[in-house]
Amino acid sequence: MDLFEYQARDLFEANGVPVLGGAVATTPEEAKLAAAKFGGKVVVKAQVKIGGRGKAGGVKLAESPDDAFEKAKAILGMDIKGHLVRKVMIAQAAPIESEYYLAILLDRAARSFLVMASVAGGMDIEEVAHKTPEKLARVHINPNSGLDKAKALEIVRAGAFPGDVEDQVADVLIKLWETFQKSDATLVEVNPLVKTGDGKIIALDGKVTLDDNASFRHPEYEALIDHAATNPLEALAKEKDLNYVKLEGEVGVIGNGAGLVMSTLDVVAYAGEKYGVKPANFLDIGGGASAQVMADGLSIILGDPAVRSVFVNVFGGITACDAVANGIIQALEILGDKATKPLVVRLDGNSVVEGRKILQAANHPLVQQLDTMDGAAARAAELAAQR
Ligand SMILES: Nc1ncnc2c1ncn2[C@@H]1O[C@H](COP(=O)(O)OP(=O)(O)OP(=O)(O)O)[C@@H](O)[C@H]1O
Ligand SMILES: [Mg+2]
Repeated sequence: MDLFEYQARDLFEANGVPVLGGAVATTPEEAKLAAAKFGGKVVVKAQVKIGGRGKAGGVKLAESPDDAFEKAKAILGMDIKGHLVRKVMIAQAAPIESEYYLAILLDRAARSFLVMASVAGGMDIEEVAHKTPEKLARVHINPNSGLDKAKALEIVRAGAFPGDVEDQVADVLIKLWETFQKSDATLVEVNPLVKTGDGKIIALDGKVTLDDNASFRHPEYEALIDHAATNPLEALAKEKDLNYVKLEGEVGVIGNGAGLVMSTLDVVAYAGEKYGVKPANFLDIGGGASAQVMADGLSIILGDPAVRSVFVNVFGGITACDAVANGIIQALEILGDKATKPLVVRLDGNSVVEGRKILQAANHPLVQQLDTMDGAAARAAELAAQR
């Protein structure tokens, strides 16, 4: 899960990373109140989970509370690269002397953590990384030994930070590392990390990605979820413990096993080209697919108004095809009138003969069986195109 900047700011503050005052506002009135509370100049910042907000006009300096009202009015409701601005952060304005860059991330390829540091921070860091990579120090951190002051100083020197801020930047880096570890993050990025006119180091912008696989040991993650941006079908699936991702298409897809479902998406996309239809979702109902799980999965897919046909692609393993076939029939009974769209079922693997017989015998008006994955995908795409 990616955090909003204001959430990253709060997390930094809680972990001793130096930040300035910041408050979130959803209306121009709230923005004005926050600006008045801080006094002096503030910066009004669009809260969207995408970089390059400044260049898109989503970060604006405000001279007064009234100005903050106007700036917030202009920024709220903006569309930044497809992200609707629903909130702004009112941040105390910093007297910036220099803009630096610090990031800690999980480097999967190196199976290690990576720190990146540069004195050429700010809105053009991507270009710096691309055109003058020597200005971006990259140092791996051994997860077992972590980051101590000596290592932090080594990184700060590799990044060619000025001598007078070396010590402060190293301390901030250690705090960021603690934040990264404590919250099970996969990314903690500060751009810009600034040096103010009076020589202080402050984190002015934060990007944090938390590892959802660690959510079981972080009850505090729950409060950080952006429910406004969560797809309602995905939220429902999560409640039911189903692995569902909404896509922009018309053919609903259910399968058992993430790998099988991924390849089913490919096959449906390929078969659908002819008809201009695409897979509507990813849904993996996992190994032990009971009738209830099948019913839950089907009801989520049928709840998507874009879906016009459903492809159920099951490879019987530990859960044999006869159990899955019974599950499909029972699921249709559970759903009753709510099952309205044609189902194309392809069964294979353990007990396939028995499974197919069960579906044939049931002779459900919505269910069609095909023997191959390609054939079933083509049929599901064709049905979706007809409706
Ligand atoms: N509190 C602040 N006080 C003064 N200037 C600020 C403040 N916050 C941001 N700025 C200025 O605005 C620029 C852009 O802000 P920020 O980095 O937060 O947004 P961004 O453009 O989305 O960045 P990124 O591309 O890293 O996502 C900063 O580089 C800095 O110059
Ligand atoms: Mg930034």
